[in-house]
Amino acid sequence: MTTTTAVTVRVPAKVNLQLAVGPAREDGYHDLVNVFHAVALFDEVTVTGARTRANGGAAGLSAEDAGGGPASHVDRVPLDASNLAWRAADLLARESGAREPVHLHLRKAIPVAGGMAGGSADAAAALVACNAFWGIGLDRERLLDLAARLGSDVAFPLVGGTAVGTGRGEVLAPARCAGRLHWVFALSEGGLSTPEVFGAYDRLRPGAPAPRGDPALMAALAEGDARAVGAALSNDLQPAALALRPALAETLEAGRAAGALGAFVSGSGPTCAFLAESAEHADRIADAVRTAPDCAHAVTAHGDVPGATVV
Ligand code: C5P
Repeated sequence: MTTTTAVTVRVPAKVNLQLAVGPAREDGYHDLVNVFHAVALFDEVTVTGARTRANGGAAGLSAEDAGGGPASHVDRVPLDASNLAWRAADLLARESGAREPVHLHLRKAIPVAGGMAGGSADAAAALVACNAFWGIGLDRERLLDLAARLGSDVAFPLVGGTAVGTGRGEVLAPARCAGRLHWVFALSEGGLSTPEVFGAYDRLRPGAPAPRGDPALMAALAEGDARAVGAALSNDLQPAALALRPALAETLEAGRAAGALGAFVSGSGPTCAFLAESAEHADRIADAVRTAPDCAHAVTAHGDVPGATVV
């Protein structure tokens, strides 16, 4: 019998191509129509056995910067049981009875608290990595189930590609995205809290209507028409993110001035996303947005890409 000593899973960031937000529900969440799109900005999660007497689940967590982003962002990664990846390992151990404790190492390129679901991506990767490490063999449906229990954005990075999320975002239907879309992401120093952004949304938009999908966006994606995709991008949380961080407006303007086909806040921010015509155009937009006062760093990435994968 061979013993697995380490499993590494690569997992993509996401950007929301549409984020339509309904009114606050009784449980505090909001019904969404959330068009997720996975982009080639990857975290890696490595699971190894932890030498401890602890029982099952995670016994330790470490994080390093993968380069390419603001290096300080990894300082904000919680290294304890409050980390969603740690909770993912614990949940899987509880559900499966796996007894060997593990250490999780995160190699982070996805900005922390950036509105690109990096924490959720790490949790999804931890589920896949621990499932392989412990040899549990849970199928995709069971993993999706556990992911939805961990958070609204954890199921999508298991699937990747482009998908429409409804409910609080965790009910996924795959969507077609033809061709390759070229993106620029402007990262800020410091994050925005997702609950705070939703709270600001409730104050700014009391009595919001039920969220609705946008057929024009889905048609543009299916046709691979980047210009039409750019015209259809939307994020109901953007005014709330801008209210909490007004300087993002200048970052968005710098991208528009460089000819971006679309310029918007990604998810709950503060990362701003820009759609470019080509990889070269993306490089030019990245150069332009770097000059904006709130932009600490700009990266380019194409989409869509597959979800969490063992490497
Ligand atoms: O599900 P998750 O833990 O990722 O959500 C983080 C926070 O974002 C929630 O506590 C809630 O404040 C807000 N949220 C929301 N409606 C959603 C998803 C998230 O209000 N559909």
